[in-house]
Amino acid sequence: MTAATSTNMIDQGLANTIAAESKMSFIDGQNGVLEYVGIDIDALARNSTFEESVYLLWHFRLPSESELAAFTDQIRNEYALPDQMWQLIKDLPKTASPMHAIRTLVSALAMHDPEADEQSPEANTRKGIRLLAKTPALIANFDRHRKDKDFIKPDPSLDIATSFLTMLNGEKPTDTMAKALDVCLILHADHGFNASTFAALVTISTLSDVYSAVTTAVGTLKGPLHGGANEAVMHTLNELGDISKVEDFVRGKLERKERVMGFGHRVYKAYDPRATYLKTFAKQLAADTGNQNLYEMSRRIEEIMAEAVAAKGIHPNVDFYSATTYYSIGLDIDLFTPMFVMSRIAGWVGHCIEYLQDNKLIRPRCEYTGPHSSPYVPMNER
Ligand code: CMC
Repeated sequence: MTAATSTNMIDQGLANTIAAESKMSFIDGQNGVLEYVGIDIDALARNSTFEESVYLLWHFRLPSESELAAFTDQIRNEYALPDQMWQLIKDLPKTASPMHAIRTLVSALAMHDPEADEQSPEANTRKGIRLLAKTPALIANFDRHRKDKDFIKPDPSLDIATSFLTMLNGEKPTDTMAKALDVCLILHADHGFNASTFAALVTISTLSDVYSAVTTAVGTLKGPLHGGANEAVMHTLNELGDISKVEDFVRGKLERKERVMGFGHRVYKAYDPRATYLKTFAKQLAADTGNQNLYEMSRRIEEIMAEAVAAKGIHPNVDFYSATTYYSIGLDIDLFTPMFVMSRIAGWVGHCIEYLQDNKLIRPRCEYTGPHSSPYVPMNER
């Protein structure tokens, strides 16, 4: 906190501000703990599915077997895209980055939803289901469009992860790959008031609509200090190419006071629990797919960072090992952040619904540091 000239303090980056209560996810940054509604993320990654974890986040409890089946059916019944959305994908420039495309496509979905401006929790949950269900088809088919491939429709007999990979690659994924993506979706689904969730809340707090909130959030997630970090990690690994170059690279970055992407976190000052799980996963997938070099380079970066900056509380975050995991699944690098979108919709929508229960317009103030009583100088005298 910095002292302001008024009686209030400036909390730069809102790092020490608790903006509201939430029952969705608990983060203990000192001890490296993440729980969804009290359940440890490790237990969910090992035992749950993305769909079940979303139910947990939205209903604050695990579903019974029949509740999960009904929820899964609701999602799959919403997989199909309106005809005009297919045309819109075709109209997008093939050179567009997927995050720009997705921000536009998610926003456009609102115009095909007669409930877009309904604000009841039930209507907002239905919209959340639609967003969750339709976004994978938008991402996969934008990728097909830019690669001059025919569209593939989502398959309602498949779960979200499997249906997405089938549309993306034109063939069913292996069980390991579908499981890997499903686990990544679970791990990224919610994380308190991170930047994109907070951006969504700013939008919904004006009593705008869920589509606008999610569009705001997609734009916020895109930044390399937030969801874009996983792509930056992969670019680093590709540029390095060989483990022998890692040490000079990392030490050089630290000497120049530059950021090593995939490290550090506003809240975690201990090891990010999502990274713990992903590290094991990345190792196994890299070995299975002949990408061992990537894993070895990552491990070496982690070793050097640990010697140099772990004492300052800088450890790998969720993006560090998700990069190798996504690459091993066969995703293009610029599809990594869209995977974060596919998953974090769960958190964005859940938080919007929760916040609206006791809504208050989010509107902080700034400390004005400019001049006062300045004269208006006519144009011809400036
Ligand atoms: N590499 C090197 N030094 C770092 C890093 C890093 N990745 N992250 C923080 N530091 C240093 C920083 O230089 C500063 O040092 P000093 O005190 O000597 O000036 C100190 O740690 C505190 O940094 P900060 O920027 O004040 O901390 P913050 O809480 O604002 O930063 C962060 C959080 C995520 C923006 C930052 O750690 C970062 O830029 N990391 C790299 C980008 C990244 O991986 N982002 C993904 C975050 S996890 C997924 C998500 O939430 O989307």
